[in-house]
Amino acid sequence: MAPSRCQRFVLLPTTMATACFLTVLLLALCAAPAPAQAARALTPGRAGAVTKAQQGGTGSNATAAAAAADEYLAPHNQARAAVGVPPLRWSADLASTAAAVVAQQQRQVGCTFVDMGGSPYGANQGWASYRARPAEVVASWVAQGRYYTHANNTCAPGRQCGTYTQVVWRRSAEVGCAQANCATVATLTLCLYNPHGNVQGQSPY
Ligand SMILES: *[C@@H]1O[C@H](CO)[C@@H](O)[C@H](O)[C@H]1NC(C)=O
Ligand SMILES: *[C@@H]1O[C@H](CO)[C@@H](O)[C@H](O)[C@H]1NC(C)=O
Repeated sequence: MAPSRCQRFVLLPTTMATACFLTVLLLALCAAPAPAQAARALTPGRAGAVTKAQQGGTGSNATAAAAAADEYLAPHNQARAAVGVPPLRWSADLASTAAAVVAQQQRQVGCTFVDMGGSPYGANQGWASYRARPAEVVASWVAQGRYYTHANNTCAPGRQCGTYTQVVWRRSAEVGCAQANCATVATLTLCLYNPHGNVQGQSPY
């Protein structure tokens, strides 16, 4: 299947009674294509804007970190179990790299998607126009699975399946994620996967 591009779609419209107009909540998704063979190492900037809890394991508050990690990990492993793929492990190293990357996006480029083309890791991203919970962002990646047909390893025409196929990629063994709070109330969420998935021409499982 073709490498996926970023995708933007409307998640939920809500009515603002006082102003009499629709506020549209957006959740945009992005799956990195498989990295080039000689991928350069990811060089994240300094961490700063992301809380210890969101770094998922490197902070001093281990209880909060474990809870945050599980919010990302549990829906990943549910989706994997549903297709008979073994669970991912949480990686504190990948989580702190992800935290540094989203913090840099937040500070320097207004929380836009990260260009993960040169990264050795698989990368799923989610940008939400509201304070999205980690589990909600992962659920939006998993939801792409409804367009994916495993029997012929294809995605429905006009749809994207890349964030789903990375979630269930059998050879990916570990994941680490982080989220940055952006201007107003938006969030940018990033999960990194090692080894990376979405190798063109291969089936995820
Ligand atoms: C750790 O995080 C939990 C949950 O957010 C909080 O209740 C607790 O007070 C924190 N502990 C420390 C030492 O910061
Ligand atoms: C793959 O299978 C689905 C479901 O049977 C079908 O709708 C789709 O057309 C197939 N795609 C290709 C490229 O064969």
